[in-house]
Amino acid sequence: TRVAIFISGRGSNMTALIEAARDPAFPAEIALVLSNNPDAPGLRTASDTGIPTLAIDHRPHRRDREAHEREIDAALVEAGIGLVCLAGYMRLLTPFLTSRWQGRMLNIHPSLLPAFPGLHTHERALAAGVKLHGCTVHLVTEIMDEGPIVGQAAILVRPDDTPALLGERVLAQEHRLYPAALARHLGAGAPTEQADRTLLSV
Ligand code: GRF
Repeated sequence: TRVAIFISGRGSNMTALIEAARDPAFPAEIALVLSNNPDAPGLRTASDTGIPTLAIDHRPHRRDREAHEREIDAALVEAGIGLVCLAGYMRLLTPFLTSRWQGRMLNIHPSLLPAFPGLHTHERALAAGVKLHGCTVHLVTEIMDEGPIVGQAAILVRPDDTPALLGERVLAQEHRLYPAALARHLGAGAPTEQADRTLLSV
């Protein structure tokens, strides 16, 4: 499957997916990296590894999200993309794109959904006093941070955790989870006992 990764910033999750896809056994090829931000550092990382990149700036379309998404969709179709991975992509998508890519668009979110949808998840987890926190890969629907869950990785919250420290540990799990969840989604094979064990790391 030809996969497009959408980024807005550094793209550390993109890098993890690119690394995983180096394995010839991996069921996906990273065929395109797309960003709404022409200055996204991840674009340079991707082009340095020889992956085609495309910046479709959202600012000219500030008032018309759908016009921006039509440009994106045309580029995806042109590139023969079969699945989209949102990875630190900071634009809300309209039903135009989410409906056209229903079942073929994944996102990674830095919390154990359905807990803490939206932003500032680590601050909120600490404020709530949760003992377990983590990240979720889910299929994208019209409602932000909802949709069928494909995989999760959990970590223990420590008494001395700050949002930064907690976020660092969650991000490390994101880099493990996203490639595993993508492979599971594409393989669509029943998750093996071993796969489940490796995804839960407390
Ligand atoms: C990560 O915390 C991810 O969960 C969220 O965006 C953040 C930045 O990710 N979606 P990346 O380093 O740009 O991949």
